[in-house]
Amino acid sequence: MTRRKYVVGNWKMNGLSAAIGEAQAIFAAADDHAVVDVAICPPFTLIGAMVAAAPGKAVGGQDCHSATSGAFTGSVAAAMLADSGASVVIVGHSERREGFAESDADVRAKAEAGLAAGLSVILCVGEPREVRESGGAIDYVLAQIAGSVPEGFDPHRLAIAYEPIWAIGTGLVPTVADVAAMHGAIRGALTARFGGAAEDMRILYGGSVNGENAVELLGAGDVDGALVGGASLTAAKFVPIVEAAATL
Ligand code: PGA
Repeated sequence: MTRRKYVVGNWKMNGLSAAIGEAQAIFAAADDHAVVDVAICPPFTLIGAMVAAAPGKAVGGQDCHSATSGAFTGSVAAAMLADSGASVVIVGHSERREGFAESDADVRAKAEAGLAAGLSVILCVGEPREVRESGGAIDYVLAQIAGSVPEGFDPHRLAIAYEPIWAIGTGLVPTVADVAAMHGAIRGALTARFGGAAEDMRILYGGSVNGENAVELLGAGDVDGALVGGASLTAAKFVPIVEAAATL
């Protein structure tokens, strides 16, 4: 088992230039925990400044278009992210699947575009609350995996983020047993499709991760790190999650 822990901040639509100092503080603190890979995905507008302020650190986008260029007003191509210094892109976040009607096929195309541009990809999946309550969460997420994970990639460059929609920004989290069951099912589906390469793919948990619950959630079976929203916006909240990951 050679998977390194991976803790990723998703700043969503938060952050003006003044927030670059928080990113610098996060990356500086993360240097003390070199066993953990740390990335921050700020709004597009901050990527260039963050890369300049934290050279060599992993900075990413929160979305990309599947096309390489063209008449897509307001969109950003994966190669543009790479050109601005990003090394990572999140695709298929539930806020995009729901709010922008992105299908599994759309997410797969975005993942392929990110990989083709040389980026690492974090591909998000996760069930809504009614699906969890009806007992169908694993089937739902495995269908998302089947429909949105591309073929023929370097397994080190594609991570899955399991983010139950009802846990995002709510303070609610699944039980450790439910997290382990879901991550085990995802690993099983990846192994069935990709064989031994699936052992190198990281599966992150996301949804209300904070400094208090990180050890428990990240310590669950087949959990290789966290995708963090609200608690990634300041060093004071994010660094304890990195520290927790370093102890595992
Ligand atoms: P949260 O968001 O940590 O604020 O729940 C996680 C995410 O949406 O990636």
